[in-house]
Formats: sequence, structure tokens, C-alpha cells
Amino acid sequence: MLYRSIADALAKQIAEGVYVAGDRLPSIRDACENFRVSISTIQRAYWELENRRLAEARPQSGYYVLPRNCWPASAEVPPSADDLPEPVTINQGVFHLFSRQQTENFLNLGLAYPSPEFLPVTQIRRILRKLSRFHLEGILTPDGTADVGLKLRRQLAQMMLNAGCEVNCDEVVTTAGCKDALAFCLGAIVHRGDIVAVETPTFPGFLQLLEALGAQALEIPTDPVNGIGIDALELALEQWPIKACVLVPTCHNPVGFTMPEDRRRRLVDLAHAAQLPVIEDDIYGDLSVPTPRLRALKAYDRDGLVLYCSSVSKSMGGGLRVGWACPGKFISEVRRLKALHGVAENTLSGMVVTEFLASRGYERHMRRLVTQFQRVVCKMIAAIHAYFPEGTAAKVPTGGYVVWVQLPHVVDSWALYRLALAKNILILPGRLFAASGRYRSHFRISAAVPWNQRAEDAVRCLGALVSDLVRQGRSSPHPQKRGTVLTK
Ligand SMILES: Cc1ncc(COP(=O)(O)O)c(C=O)c1O
Repeated sequence: MLYRSIADALAKQIAEGVYVAGDRLPSIRDACENFRVSISTIQRAYWELENRRLAEARPQSGYYVLPRNCWPASAEVPPSADDLPEPVTINQGVFHLFSRQQTENFLNLGLAYPSPEFLPVTQIRRILRKLSRFHLEGILTPDGTADVGLKLRRQLAQMMLNAGCEVNCDEVVTTAGCKDALAFCLGAIVHRGDIVAVETPTFPGFLQLLEALGAQALEIPTDPVNGIGIDALELALEQWPIKACVLVPTCHNPVGFTMPEDRRRRLVDLAHAAQLPVIEDDIYGDLSVPTPRLRALKAYDRDGLVLYCSSVSKSMGGGLRVGWACPGKFISEVRRLKALHGVAENTLSGMVVTEFLASRGYERHMRRLVTQFQRVVCKMIAAIHAYFPEGTAAKVPTGGYVVWVQLPHVVDSWALYRLALAKNILILPGRLFAASGRYRSHFRISAAVPWNQRAEDAVRCLGALVSDLVRQGRSSPHPQKRGTVLTK
């Protein structure tokens, strides 16, 4: 691989003291000229150096040589081994995960849904009381749906202003959660055999949907700070008939980055130039720590090419199953797919969300939530540092509550997942986050749980399991080939 030989050459110069700790490595543009290769090759070479703990990326500045034995602040994203689109086969692994019986003392750090302690339970209880007293008939019959649907879409259109998007209620399609919104948007564009560009690592839900559609995932090198590589995407568009790009630009799941504003503009400009539909999952957008939150990609869209998807699952509760899409020029097809899946909406959930949003309690609730999640994320990362062995790196997210952890290379996180399950702790192993089966030494953990003795004990237990795995020098009991199916 060309990028590896470039990384080797730079590593040798670092070893020989040509570059010392703190030195800035040549800019990507200069390195392209020196080595006469493309930007994406240099980008990968630099990520390889990050992988080897020799350099770190500093936002807006470049790559710097690290002191020996220093761990970069961010967990690295391994470079792609090659650029080929991959058939997706993660569903078996995901089903294995979801089939686990949740016993009473089970601690679910795998699924990224907030525990009830973080949800607006009191407000929703009040709303439910009111609804049951005055609106029960409307709740029980689907006839009132049009009216409820319109009120909900009006509230959601208003909420979209938080993301800098001016949409009217006719541009909003309500769905049973964000995953359904994503399924309809992907279904409107992507068919069997089509290629879809994804970040790497990416949200497993995207891969599940691509697998169901029989589509292939093309993993675009993704920077842990800046998000999807736009130059790499541009190159990929020259090489492959990419049907769509699907991504989480704000508080990324699992890495936690938020794509900077200039890159959002560039991405949407590229989408316009290439007429590439971009499916934007903004489910964590309002949980962004920096305020005001960055505008969604949809806000820059002039041509109706950005299909925006979100839900209230991360803020008001995943059990409500209220989500929505603003699918731009694909709205008719998305509506058609939605109509194929059901005749009516969940009226009760729609009313609850409408009432909550109309009460203006949402903004206050979100401000509190961001602070609470931040607090747990900090505690969890501190516990990981305290209890996990050397060679572990945890990435602080820019919002939301998922934490991406890199383990020492000898550890297979699928083995960790299985050992943790036996201790009643669920985590998400890294392989679920790529079609290609990489990230075998990563896992994702959710910090949307109350931080108490039980949570800390769980992290301590995970750390002990990792230390055991390191000691045993044990890799996977199921050596994973690229694209192979995950099994029990
Ligand atoms: C990035 C992302 N998108 C979508 C979903 C699914 O959301 P929903 O429960 O609203 O379908 C999740 C849930 O974990 C998620 O993390």
C-alpha cells in the first residue's frame, strides 16, 4: 500500500530525529507534492502515523510529532485497507446483540438511549393526564390523525430552526423514529447493488439498512475531529457510481466529532456539483455541547438534495417512536414508502410530543440534558482512564453521550463483549461499525446512564476484563475476515 510506505518513510525520519516531538509534519498539500500522490493517500499515511502513536492531528493546524509513549487525545480511526465498496453483513451480529435477555441487574451500556432519569418524565406525565381526560377518543381512532399530524409537523418545523433550517410543515414527513426516517430516505434512493458512501466508523443502523436493501457500503476515510474526508469523497465520486452519502455530521455516533462549518459548506457544494443525495442523521444535533449548535447540512441545501432525519428518541424517550424526515426533492417517494408501511400514526405519541414542544419546555430540558450528559461522559472517561490498562484511549464527544474507546491492539472487543455479557453488561463491539469488519479493538459505550456505584463498578469490571485479555495476549476466538458474518 502506497500510504503505508509513506507512513514508513515518515516514521523512519521521526525515529532518526529528523522530526522531533512537537514538530509539525509537512502540510498535506506539501506532502502531496513531495511524494507525488493524492491528498487521500497522504491523509491515510498521516492516520497511519496516528495509529502508530507517532503523530496527532491538531484542529485547523496539521499533524504534529508526539513524544514517545504519548497517547493522542483522540482515539484513532484506522485507515481503510482499500477503497472497494463492501457488501454489508452485520445484521447477524446485531441480532445476536439484541437477542440477549435483559435480566434485572443488567446494565445496558450498549444501546444509545437515555435512561428514564434523563427524560422529562414529570412533564410527560402531566401531558398524559390532560390528554386522557380531554382527547381519549381522538387518541384511539386514526381519524384524528390528520389534525394531530399537522400540529406535530408544525412544531417540528419550528424546531428545525434550531438547526438553521427553514422548512414549512408540508416539507416534514413524520415517522416512527429516526431509523424509520432513514429507512424511507435510503429506500427512496438506493436499490439492490447500489453503492452508498458512509463514514468510517459509521452508525451500525446505516449498515443494517444497507444490508436489508442489498446495497454496498463505500467507507470514506473519516477524520476523528473533522468528519468525513471531503477530498476522499470527491475522489470516490470520480471512481464509483455512488447513489447517496449517509452520515452523522453533528455529535457523530460513535466517534463524537462535529464536522466544522466550512466543511459542511464544502460537502453540500460537492453534493450539488455531483447531484449526490446526502442523508443527514441529526439525531444528536440538539445535544451539541458548543452552543449555539452548528447549522445542519440541510441549512446549506439549495437543491433539495439533503434528506434530513431526526427523532425525539435521544431527548424525550426512544419509546415514543416519534421521528421525522425533511427529504427535500425526494419527498413524494418518501411519503409513498411511508404509506406502504402503515395507514396511521401513533396518535398518542404524536400528541405528547406536540404538547411538550408547544409548552416551550424543550429548550430548557435540552440545556439541562446537555450538562447532565457531559457530566456522566467526563466521569465515564475518567473511570476508563483509571481502570483500563495502558494502551486504551477514549474519545471525548462534542455532544451527545456515546464514547468511542480504543483498546490495546491485542484485544478483540467481540471477546470483551461476550465476557461482559456474562457479567450482565452490554457494550457494542467495534466491528459493528464498519462493513469491512475493522475496529476489532474498539468498542462503543453509552454514558446516558446515571453515574453511580453500579455504573462505576461496571466500568471497573470492563477494565479488569480488558486487562485479562491483554495478559492472555488473547485475540479473537472468531478471527474476522473482511466482510464475514459475525457469529455467536
Ligand atoms: C445516529 C443514530 N441514528 C438513529 C438512531 C435510531 O433512532 P430512533 O430510535 O429514533 O429510531 C440512533 C439510535 O441509537 C442513532 O444513534
